[in-house]
Amino acid sequence: MIYNFLFLVATIPVALAHDNGLGLTPQMGWNSWNKYGCNISANDIISAATSIKEKGLLDLGYEYIVMDDCWALKTRDPVTKQIVPDPSKFPNGIKNLSDSIHDMGFKWGMYSSAGKYTCAGYPGSLDYEEIDATTFASWGVDYLKYDNCYNQGRSGTPSESFKRYEVMSKALNSTGRPIFYSLCQWGEDGPWNWASTIANSWRISGDIYDNFNRYDDRCPCESFQCIGLQGFDCSVMNIIRKALPLSQKARDRDGWNDLDSLEVGNGGMTYDEYVTHFTVWAILKSPLMLGNDVSAMSDQDLSIVSNRDLITINQDRGTQPAYSKWTKNYGDSIIILLSGELSNGDWVVALVNGASQQLTYNISMTDVFIDNRIYAEKRWVARDLWTNETSSVNNFIISNVKPHGTQVWRFSKSS
Ligand code: GAL
Repeated sequence: MIYNFLFLVATIPVALAHDNGLGLTPQMGWNSWNKYGCNISANDIISAATSIKEKGLLDLGYEYIVMDDCWALKTRDPVTKQIVPDPSKFPNGIKNLSDSIHDMGFKWGMYSSAGKYTCAGYPGSLDYEEIDATTFASWGVDYLKYDNCYNQGRSGTPSESFKRYEVMSKALNSTGRPIFYSLCQWGEDGPWNWASTIANSWRISGDIYDNFNRYDDRCPCESFQCIGLQGFDCSVMNIIRKALPLSQKARDRDGWNDLDSLEVGNGGMTYDEYVTHFTVWAILKSPLMLGNDVSAMSDQDLSIVSNRDLITINQDRGTQPAYSKWTKNYGDSIIILLSGELSNGDWVVALVNGASQQLTYNISMTDVFIDNRIYAEKRWVARDLWTNETSSVNNFIISNVKPHGTQVWRFSKSS
């Protein structure tokens, strides 16, 4: 505790979450919600962590184990006012579970809501921020996902939401424990414009579901500009469209656009669709939080989330997400050209095929480097980050992309 205090005094001039020393790169880990929903227990969490470690994913950087909603009893302790873990799910309490997770080499994350209740109806932390932050810190929590349900009308404008989320930011910092602060405001009040001074990341959309492009009335917004009802059951393509204009809002020391946990391994998409999902999340520098049962994962799905080249780009220090250079209508959907500079001067370039038709396209270097025209003249060597094949680039690169697939390269200067 004394060490933590000194650490904070030395490194945090102002007690704001974005200055908690965390979030220099997007967070990586596992979150229980997409696969398990409310069916969680200490045993499920421990076995998830065990599989993640056994499959080598901790070594690749998936370090936060985050338990989502439904861990508590429905009422607070009448005396201490603390949230009480459900003893039928956590017979040895949360501190014991947190210790086990730490002993395995992971960091430990939990969930609450900036509302009266969580989205599943358990006690939320609104107006109990200090008690809950202190409790979380005493349980060894390293990460808080903080939701938006039942916010009692204290939302609808950026400043209302800012104030509501700022209270928890301050409460977390004053515990003296560095706790990654992951906002889940769904993008309804444009958190990319106000959360960077209080948080490490912010969700930009309603909840993902395990589908590539199906329209669902529960996710009515097609754009980030749709304020007020982001909903849930949002497809991968729906979230990608919302994320494209927001690259300019994310960077280290400010925070990250969170496109939601991954669905890879949950069975609802094809290999090529999961490749698109993982590639875009990685190069837009979204958090990479696994959301599946890792013990039951196919080798093919494991190979997707283990792509070291894309993880390296996602975790590249000091660079912004890739930007969309254009979106064009194609077949029954759209195609998107993305590119972005990396810290060593290389570039990442990707062509996303949202359509259900095969795509062959000559990508022009003037498009790739539309904002950096001098680079368009240079000679590049392009390495495909899924096949590892290399090719030289001179004015154009020819791309063949499967339906719903994505081709992505790392461009290095040709010697
Ligand atoms: C939603 C949130 C999901 C999940 C769920 C739990 O609001 O966006 O990611 O946390 O609540 O009830």
